[in-house]
Amino acid sequence: MAVGIFDSGLGGLTVLDAVARRLPEVPFIYFGDNANAPYGVRDADDVYQLTCAATERLFDAGCDLVILACNTASAAALRRMQEGWVPRDKRVLGVFVPLIEALTERNWGDNSPPREVAVKNVALFATPATVRSRAFQRELAFRAIGVDVEAQACGGLVDAIEDGDMILAEALVRSHVDALKRKMPFPDAAVLGCTHYPLMQEVFQAALGDEVQVFSQANLVAESLADYLTRHPERQGPPREPAFLTTGNPDKVSNSATQFLRRRISFQSA
Ligand code: DGL
Repeated sequence: MAVGIFDSGLGGLTVLDAVARRLPEVPFIYFGDNANAPYGVRDADDVYQLTCAATERLFDAGCDLVILACNTASAAALRRMQEGWVPRDKRVLGVFVPLIEALTERNWGDNSPPREVAVKNVALFATPATVRSRAFQRELAFRAIGVDVEAQACGGLVDAIEDGDMILAEALVRSHVDALKRKMPFPDAAVLGCTHYPLMQEVFQAALGDEVQVFSQANLVAESLADYLTRHPERQGPPREPAFLTTGNPDKVSNSATQFLRRRISFQSA
């Protein structure tokens, strides 16, 4: 038994890295659907079909618990999967809720009514599909009142990161931050609502300014998974080295992953 970590491509490695550091004794299997990335420009049905196929592959590889380390899949597919697709003995969790709990100063399982929180103006940077789903605003409204959210769909950014074109990626971050600031000049918090974006966190922070608190998911998801596994130790298997699967070209994906994480990562064909 291992814990599966899924993303459309390389972005989920930011989550894998944080959870593997936080939980070194937990075995992980990473699945990147690089052949079908990006998901953010696809419609919800497409994202659902692809996410189910990838999750099935992780179940087959022995994972009882799969984390969708992909906001697009968490926003566009997770609820539908949990309502009618996930087998009773398996669990699939997303990356949205830990982030929103941090933003709204809540602990896990705090289902008290929505209340006023410290942040008032939140900038959300995410893929077009995540922005379209309005899942972030929906989850936020369950927990907080009086928070204004302005969302910016960051077209092109995931492609640039997947291609390793960091010059283009930097230019896109700056132009998306400018576009956001035209709609909301003074956000007090910014959410990097795509697991690829922490790879550009410094550029986001510089473009937004030091006074904006930037929330990114990797460490929040790691804490939340640690908490979940304390409550469900049966979902964690015996220790072993993480395995990396891709639907893309394993050599190309391994090279990009090694560049991103600055340590050798070897993907195998899924
Ligand atoms: N990294 C993913 C996310 O968090 C997916 C990006 C994409 O494939 O467009 O949304």
